[in-house]
Formats: sequence, C-alpha cells, structure tokens
Amino acid sequence: MEARKKTAREVERHIVARVGDVPEGEHRIFSVAGREIGIFNVRGEYFALRNRCPHLGGPLCEGEVLGLVYSSKPGDVRFDGSKRLITCPWHGWEFDVKTGQSYFNPRLKARRYTVETSVGEASRERQEAVPENPDELEPGPYKAEVLQVKEEGEYLVVAMPKSTAGRERGAS
Ligand code: FES
Repeated sequence: MEARKKTAREVERHIVARVGDVPEGEHRIFSVAGREIGIFNVRGEYFALRNRCPHLGGPLCEGEVLGLVYSSKPGDVRFDGSKRLITCPWHGWEFDVKTGQSYFNPRLKARRYTVETSVGEASRERQEAVPENPDELEPGPYKAEVLQVKEEGEYLVVAMPKSTAGRERGAS
C-alpha cells in the first residue's frame, strides 16, 4: 500500500478555549496537542503564536505585551498603541503579536560610531540613531511561528500543521 504523503498544508483544528478565557488586552498560554500556544486578544481580535522564540527557543509568550515606544531625542517619548509587541523573557527581543515579525532600526544597524572625546558630541550622535517614527523600522530576520485562530461560536479554534504537532516540550 502506498504511504500517504503529508504536505505542509495539512492542518488539524483544535478547540483551545472558550472565548471568555482570554480577556481583551490579555493573552494566555494553552497546551494543544503537545505544543504550547499563546492566544492573544487584541481589541477583540484573536492571534496565536507558538510559545517558542525563533532566537534561541525561549518561552516567548511568557513575556509582556507592549505598544511601540519610540523617540527622536531625550524627553521626546512617543507611544504607538496600534502595534502590539511581545517581549521575549530571555533576551528581550520583540515580535509583532499579529504577524510574528521581529523589527530593527536600520539606522542603528548601518551607522558607525566614532569615539568622541567630547561627551556632548558622542551623545548627539546616539540621539540621531534612534528612530523618529515607527515607519523607520524594518522587518528583522526572525519571525515567530504564527498560527491561525478563529472564534467559532463560544470557542477559540486553532489550526496547526499535522506534521509537527507533538514535538513541543512536555509532549506526551
Ligand atoms: S530566546 Fe527569545 S530573545 Fe533570545
């Protein structure tokens, strides 16, 4: 008998929780088919990420969710609440809750600093390297695994690829 080939598109649907189990503005971690999944409620919309950081495998969803804070200079701190970023508790890398994407400031990456003997000059150069607005951020090389989550009646249902289910820590 010919073995049935598994494709990356094969998914299994799992009822994870009741809608009210994840209040608005919060997130919860659930164990689903041996994998840990973080479900996030962002203004009534649900998003799901694997609880595994793409950097070094830290428990990503155990981190804090914050908006984007940016600044052009000391004393000028602005907040963009439309972006929701989860901060990995291991090394502090941030990932967009909705897309799993990490971001970096290209000006910080590209800029070379010269060592100034004048403290004032060195300070001025650092100020220039801070993004003045969120649009200056570019997607980084890391992306956390995003899973599809839907509200079906009173339940939250997650779709996961069949092929990798059960490999998470704590899998039975
Ligand atoms: S393991 Fe998440 S930032 Fe390093």
